[in-house]
Amino acid sequence: MMVKSKMAADRRESNPAFNNRRLKLGTFQTNLDSGCVMSDLDGRLEITWPNTLQLAKYADEMEFEAIVPVARWRGFGGKVNPQGPGFETYTWAAGLGASTGYSGITSTSHVSLNHPIIAAKQSTVIDHISSGRYTLNIVCGWNKPEIDMFGTELLPHDDRYDMAEEWLEIVKRLWTEDEEFDHEGRYYKIQKGYLQPKPIQKPYPALMNAGGSDRGRHFACKNCDMVYLGPRSFEFDAFKAHVDSYRNLAREEYGREIRVWTLACVVQGETEQEAKEFHDYYVNEKGDWGAATNVLDTIGINAKTFPSGVLEGLKSHFIAGWGGYPLIGTKDQIVDGLHTLSRMGLDGVLLSWPRYLDGMKQFRDVTYPLLKQSGLRDMR
Ligand SMILES: Cc1cc2nc3c(=O)[nH]c(=O)nc-3n(C[C@H](O)[C@H](O)[C@H](O)COP(=O)(O)O)c2cc1C
Repeated sequence: MMVKSKMAADRRESNPAFNNRRLKLGTFQTNLDSGCVMSDLDGRLEITWPNTLQLAKYADEMEFEAIVPVARWRGFGGKVNPQGPGFETYTWAAGLGASTGYSGITSTSHVSLNHPIIAAKQSTVIDHISSGRYTLNIVCGWNKPEIDMFGTELLPHDDRYDMAEEWLEIVKRLWTEDEEFDHEGRYYKIQKGYLQPKPIQKPYPALMNAGGSDRGRHFACKNCDMVYLGPRSFEFDAFKAHVDSYRNLAREEYGREIRVWTLACVVQGETEQEAKEFHDYYVNEKGDWGAATNVLDTIGINAKTFPSGVLEGLKSHFIAGWGGYPLIGTKDQIVDGLHTLSRMGLDGVLLSWPRYLDGMKQFRDVTYPLLKQSGLRDMR
């Protein structure tokens, strides 16, 4: 029997990242060894297909709106080389798209490493596999050792975003134009650009970016649907102002509405004391401070994500969960913390756990029902 591909859909109907839940949820870095954690902790994420798939299934069961990987090509050394072993994000997303039914599926392109025609084509396949649940994360690169590994130049910071503008223009034309086109720009030359079939999502798949620099914020607010920010301060007013600054930039300069997301790390205990002690154990006793130093040094030199002087103070938070907002305490405190993030104006939060498999199972069984009861997962 001939099966026709699914009809073209307005992406707001097929991609849950556009739904109206008061707080959207996702997972972060489940494609990499250790995930968001830099610690010699037993039970941390070991990257195997069954493990990463299990985490995606938990996400799907809770109707998480996003499963977001990180495109990482080599690890950060130190004692346990966190994020060294890991799954490439397009092939990983394709597998997860075929194995889940609700959650949004993301893959990540380094602009300088993925040619726009290949990125547009691979993205289209994942959009078809997932029936329009796909999001493309565009990253400009900052981890110089991995870019060096390709023998490719890490361009000066703001030029990377100029290249990304041109890259994205080509990707969008391939996704939307039926006529073949030529393109000759500063970075790319395309002859008779052609792409069929088109993606399921119309006008094209959801786009995300997490640029934190001034140039990066403009790129994200001008072009992307989901904009992610790494916390600079965990204090309510400062965090809220940070969130507002993205939303206002998108509205005032580009006349656009964006969805603003951040990251948070869940450390849950029977009591607050137990959660705090466990946090202290895996960060201060078992933490891979050498790897964390390598990460922060590289970010400090090659990215402009954080204002000067801020990074060193975030080191323990990078060890705990890649700088995510700390949600440490009992199940009720975790739920309260997620409400706080919502009150800060956030549309969505990517979660991580020190021990992803145990932590996410506990979240599904114990914490998520409370979160639902509290109304935070209601549609607006
Ligand atoms: C949620 C999130 C996901 C990210 N994913 C990646 C990634 O997959 N690969 C990568 O190299 N950088 C990733 N980044 C880093 C940013 O995309 C950005 O490149 C970095 O902050 C440097 O740019 P900036 O100087 O504009 O901040 C991510 C950041 C966040 C907060």
